Amino acid sequence: MMRVQLLDKVFEISITEARIVNAIKNIAKNIAKDLRDKDPLLICVLNGSFMFASDLMKEMSFNCEISFVKLSSYEGTHTTGKVKQLIGLNEDIKGRYVVLLEDIVDTGTTIVNVVDQLKKLGPADVRVATMLFKPEAYTQDMKIDYIGLEIPNDFIVGYGLDYNGYGRNLRNIYTVVE
Ligand code: IMP
Ligand code: MG
Repeated sequence: MMRVQLLDKVFEISITEARIVNAIKNIAKNIAKDLRDKDPLLICVLNGSFMFASDLMKEMSFNCEISFVKLSSYEGTHTTGKVKQLIGLNEDIKGRYVVLLEDIVDTGTTIVNVVDQLKKLGPADVRVATMLFKPEAYTQDMKIDYIGLEIPNDFIVGYGLDYNGYGRNLRNIYTVVE
């Protein structure tokens, strides 16, 4: 299946499942190097990261835990800006080595917001692992610790990522063409 249609848009395959799997293995290896003795807590930012989180965790052969969070759809007023609240975290992360799992870092606004909120809870360290990274779109100073693949600044779907809710089930990653 080289092309798929989702709602009003057509997408073409741009990254194969094999390349994604390989990139995820690489992330796991690098996390292991840094944190294998630290009992890290992976925190998956839903919804898009569920598939990445599952595949990444299967590559980890050391003690680690996982938790799932979401950003509230509520956005503050114009005066407070677009600060979305992190919801769903039940664990005490004080003193923990946290690795945030993101499907994709685009402008970086989302992940920097999440990192800032988590740092207030007193973890030993917060790192970021993202399956995909759009360097041309990134506007932040924060360093991304673990990157699977760098991709062009185009809209993509698949492997957990969606277009208006659709396309998350696709095994490969597809780029919008029309
Ligand atoms: P950021 O805050 O601009 O970095 O955007 C991050 C979020 O936007 C991701 O967690 C995705 O949910 C979504 N996003 C960014 N780029 C894409 C894309 O190309 N396809 C689907 N979702 C995307
Ligand atoms: Mg996301």
